[in-house]
Amino acid sequence: MNSLEFVRDEILAIRGYVSGEQPPVGKFIKLNTNENPFPPSNSVIKAIQQAATQGLNVYPDALANSFRICAAQMLGLEKDWILCGNGSDDLLTMLTRTFVSSGSTIRIPYPSYVLYRTLGQIQGARTEEIHFEKDWRLPSSFYENSSSVSLVFLPNPNSPSGTVLSPEQVLKIADQLDCPLVVDEAYADFSDTNCIGLVREAENVIVTRTLSKSYGLAGLRFGYAVARPEIIQQLQKVKDSYNCDALAIAGATAAINDQSWLTENRSTIGNLRQQMARDLRQRGFEVTPSQANFVWCHHPKISSNDLYQQLKSNQILVRYMDYPDWGSGIRISVGTSSQITALMAILDTIVAENNL
Ligand SMILES: Cc1ncc(COP(=O)(O)O)c(C=O)c1O
Repeated sequence: MNSLEFVRDEILAIRGYVSGEQPPVGKFIKLNTNENPFPPSNSVIKAIQQAATQGLNVYPDALANSFRICAAQMLGLEKDWILCGNGSDDLLTMLTRTFVSSGSTIRIPYPSYVLYRTLGQIQGARTEEIHFEKDWRLPSSFYENSSSVSLVFLPNPNSPSGTVLSPEQVLKIADQLDCPLVVDEAYADFSDTNCIGLVREAENVIVTRTLSKSYGLAGLRFGYAVARPEIIQQLQKVKDSYNCDALAIAGATAAINDQSWLTENRSTIGNLRQQMARDLRQRGFEVTPSQANFVWCHHPKISSNDLYQQLKSNQILVRYMDYPDWGSGIRISVGTSSQITALMAILDTIVAENNL
């Protein structure tokens, strides 16, 4: 018997999602996966420590209600508008399982978060990739309804560009579509605008968020979706029974309750982003204006792949992205001030060595 003969064709055919490199801690200045360079609020650590000493022998609350109550309060909603996940990737999986059947189509902007395509492929769905213009504007075809499209993903701010559509533009897309529109707000805490208000305004808008980036909790794995209660109820049917563990629920609840930590961190990251973009431009880089905790850039005189390799050999890890039929560049997460200084020092030597 061939051990692969029972594997579904859709799974055999795909490569699977490949996440960014996660080298051992301390080996690199790590600016490749948009983590927060600062540790989370102290209240998070205390809450996790406390949760670790009580009740690990019993299952956690399957719906993470302590988090839902606090998040709902922060957003001015009821808790039945909120569903928690093991990172927002878990929620994106639930959404795809719920709305996308084999043979249907998902629509995504391109380039954007690569995972959407993989999730569609796992369902046996086709992916309609609508290419961004070179200046990161979304063409009008993204707004057009199509009877074959069963789910649309819109990362806002987008990754890798950090560009953002206004709530008015997003509402326009939602109004044209006959299917759910998932606004992936993984980076919205770093942006001047967000689309939470649209969940009430438009029946087909679902927003997903994560604590991985703006709350400094990528290692904890916690995200949430905001949608109408009747949609949340359907999503609950496809989730793993206990998808969020007790330590994550305790830490995430403490994090969402410490909004002053978030406000301060958001402002620090915003200032560092400005500094990093300015420093890169001074060294000849073309940098896309970003509303996220990273910037997308390239140097007109040196290939992005070479830059990535040279930075890596100097213990600085950034993300090199090559999007077939679109182009390549590097995405650099906003680091601490000293990380940015170290990055610029290495870039100075690279620029000098290349006689630029
Ligand atoms: C656009 C986007 N959405 C979702 C995620 C997943 O985040 P999480 O850590 O919550 O699974 C990422 C992670 O990089 C992302 O870039």
